[in-house]
Amino acid sequence: MSTKKHTDIDPERIPAHIAVIMDGNGRWARRRGLPRLEGHRRGYKALKNLVVNAADIGVEVITAYAFSSENWNRPAEEVSGLMKLIRYAAKAELNYMKKEGVRIVTSGRFYELPQELQDQFNEDYEETKNNNRIVLNIAVNYGGRNEIVDAARSAARMVVEGKLSPDDIDDKMLSGLMYHPELPEPDLLIRTAGEMRVSNFLLWETAYSELYVTETLWPDFSKSDLYVAVADYQGRTRKFGKVVE
Ligand code: FPP
Repeated sequence: MSTKKHTDIDPERIPAHIAVIMDGNGRWARRRGLPRLEGHRRGYKALKNLVVNAADIGVEVITAYAFSSENWNRPAEEVSGLMKLIRYAAKAELNYMKKEGVRIVTSGRFYELPQELQDQFNEDYEETKNNNRIVLNIAVNYGGRNEIVDAARSAARMVVEGKLSPDDIDDKMLSGLMYHPELPEPDLLIRTAGEMRVSNFLLWETAYSELYVTETLWPDFSKSDLYVAVADYQGRTRKFGKVVE
């Protein structure tokens, strides 16, 4: 059992960007005999708390996997329930996010989302664009492979238009074509509910991220879980492919 306390966090080495795979909402609900959507509802509250707790320790960006490009294959009732919940949260929390200095952005194929959700997110972007305490990047209709495909298509278009030579396509150039090149890459990727998978999340950006998997189910993910994850991250030696003595 971990004996780490939040006081063990080094304020000088806070991860700038934490990405989260919020897994286990369904299991959380099932264990209580509740509908799966109740798990997602509690998951949304856990995300709201995470954003503020992370901002309080100096994290600059949270990217949260709210709906993957594969999640459309879930039962129709769950898909529409999740879309409604995300829209509800994007509306209901706007004032709170403004007050807390949160800038809201999204990652994913935006144009495929229900129109009302696009409209709500557009309002959120506009209303929070000058906030600078923390960025909340909501990955919705997001797929890591799709993001790379979209970047490759943009590069191909530039080549066809004669604005780019194929030889100029490199790692740095493609990074600039990802959904949010202005954000730092995740330092830490947290996955809840014990699954040891990346599940098509931020495939490009997590090349050198530290992974942290906890058995905690997402709706139960608390401030102390965040602190334990950050303390664990701070105990790692980041090598970026080099030899570190
Ligand atoms: C995975 O748990 C979770 C999701 C697919 C959805 C995450 C969505 C939220 C937390 C909703 C709120 C988001 C916003 C932005 C308001 P699972 O259903 O796969 O859990 P299981 O593996 O236990 O079944």
